[in-house]
Amino acid sequence: MQIRKVLEEKILEAFEHIAVDVDRVQVLPASKPEFGDYQYNGAMALAKRLKRNPKEIAQSLVESIQKGDMIESLEVAGPGFINIKLSKYWLSTRVTQALEDTRLGVSIKNDPIKVVIDYSSPNMAKQMHVGHLRSTIIGDTLANLLQFMGESVIRQNHIGDWGTQFGMLIAYLEELGEGTEGTLKDLEQFYKDAKKRFDEDEFFANRAREYVVKLQSGDVYCLNLWKNFIDKSLSHCEEIYQRLGVNLTREDVRAESDYNDELANIVKELQEKGLLVESRGAKCVFVENSDTPLIVQKSDGGYLYATTDLAAIKFRVQKLGAKRILYVVDSRQSEHFKLVFKVARAAGYAPKDIKLEHVKFGMMLDKSGRPFKTRDGGTVKLIDLLQEAVNRAKEAIRQKDEYSKEEILKIAEIVGIGAVKYADLSINRESDYVFDWDKMLSLDGNTSLYQQYAYARIQSIIRRYGKEPTGTVAIEDELERKLVLKLLELEDTLILASNESAPHYLTNYLYSLTTLFMKFYENNPILKDDIPKELKESRLMIAKATAETIKLVLGIMGIKTVDRL
Ligand code: ARG
Repeated sequence: MQIRKVLEEKILEAFEHIAVDVDRVQVLPASKPEFGDYQYNGAMALAKRLKRNPKEIAQSLVESIQKGDMIESLEVAGPGFINIKLSKYWLSTRVTQALEDTRLGVSIKNDPIKVVIDYSSPNMAKQMHVGHLRSTIIGDTLANLLQFMGESVIRQNHIGDWGTQFGMLIAYLEELGEGTEGTLKDLEQFYKDAKKRFDEDEFFANRAREYVVKLQSGDVYCLNLWKNFIDKSLSHCEEIYQRLGVNLTREDVRAESDYNDELANIVKELQEKGLLVESRGAKCVFVENSDTPLIVQKSDGGYLYATTDLAAIKFRVQKLGAKRILYVVDSRQSEHFKLVFKVARAAGYAPKDIKLEHVKFGMMLDKSGRPFKTRDGGTVKLIDLLQEAVNRAKEAIRQKDEYSKEEILKIAEIVGIGAVKYADLSINRESDYVFDWDKMLSLDGNTSLYQQYAYARIQSIIRRYGKEPTGTVAIEDELERKLVLKLLELEDTLILASNESAPHYLTNYLYSLTTLFMKFYENNPILKDDIPKELKESRLMIAKATAETIKLVLGIMGIKTVDRL
């Protein structure tokens, strides 16, 4: 149910009725309760244009808007605002209907487009770090969200698996010989040791250099060593994906090296289009309004990160049929993407109708505002971080005696991992993000645990009632009205989050929903004996709709719920 769209259509109709030519209007949620539920404030700008009195325009609109059973009242306020209040009857009917639908009344797009989402994309020559954690969490949520809305989503894990470091890594892998399984368990240590060998041993360093050349010329022996290394490295990432409940598989991996064969051609095409300029031996593209060029080939003939990205855009548009491409990559790569996008446009790889978006995010900081590191300044191993989340969750949840050890472990896993994900998603992604265990596992505030508790509490109410509530919702008071309205704002929220690639709209929504529910629940007892059956069932239905909504939205964020907590 897209409430705002329906209201906007009603206003457009009214404009037609009063013979004022308007092709787009925007309705906003009211900023104060006394303004009703929604507000239209377009009459003022329009009045200026038409040289008429805004109040008059608003008044004639109010008289022409078809209220139907949806709108309870319309009121002209201030200099020409229109306050809109929805009817209890309509809200009640709609929420009852939503409960009958597994999508809770959220429509599915009937003209889906192909959306490519480039996310996670770690480098294989380094340990996956917290930046990739953010990309993985945000990217996966956006992929789930767009998929839920009905778009045809293609996930792309653009892993960095090519470059000079790999000569060193495979030379070292070879040197260790048998039993590499064990050695590669700790990749971080492996990189460090390889680097140490490289710096200390001339002979080893030369072999590493030789292997780079061999690898690049397709030498089978080196390629096999390299494939083995990438395979192990990827398995480490997959361990993290699995733990996080992230939907990325091997099929989604399209590595940098997969574009190797296309790179020479990209440079050739840029040349043919007259976009290439040679500067100190390097091949560059200068784009409008930018002093820094995009370098696509170094003077030694080597290609760059940007060249691969151009090849990837070409592939995504021409082969995958993408109409919208999202790059969930940290803000520090802003300039890179700006340039790459401009060149892709100029070269015709991304025609105007293709949307290219850098979904940038800020850094992960510790509580004192410094980049997130271990106590001794090292990089935090993601798998350790997730384990710590689970351990802390175990402490944070009330360990009731009735639970077996396994149950507690299961709940802690869901709650702990959920807390890490929720905390990341709940802030505006462009700001830096302060990683704070206590805040993230707190019971109050905009946290996953708060959602989990609300969900589990509703399940427990339904269990105590003894059967699934049926019947219809009949809104009784203002608290119920607010809660139901919030429930029906689900689709508007999902649309907003997907249009802006901003998951924090989801968590903001959940937070206000759950807060409203808690208020409603405090004031409107559900299971008390003296409450008439119809009222009981109506309240239970509202509670159930709340739980289903929490579950659906957390599900989009890849967070599971538990029935008891
Ligand atoms: N591997 C890169 C990094 O770790 C991120 C790749 C992002 N995607 C892309 N198409 N450039 O910084």
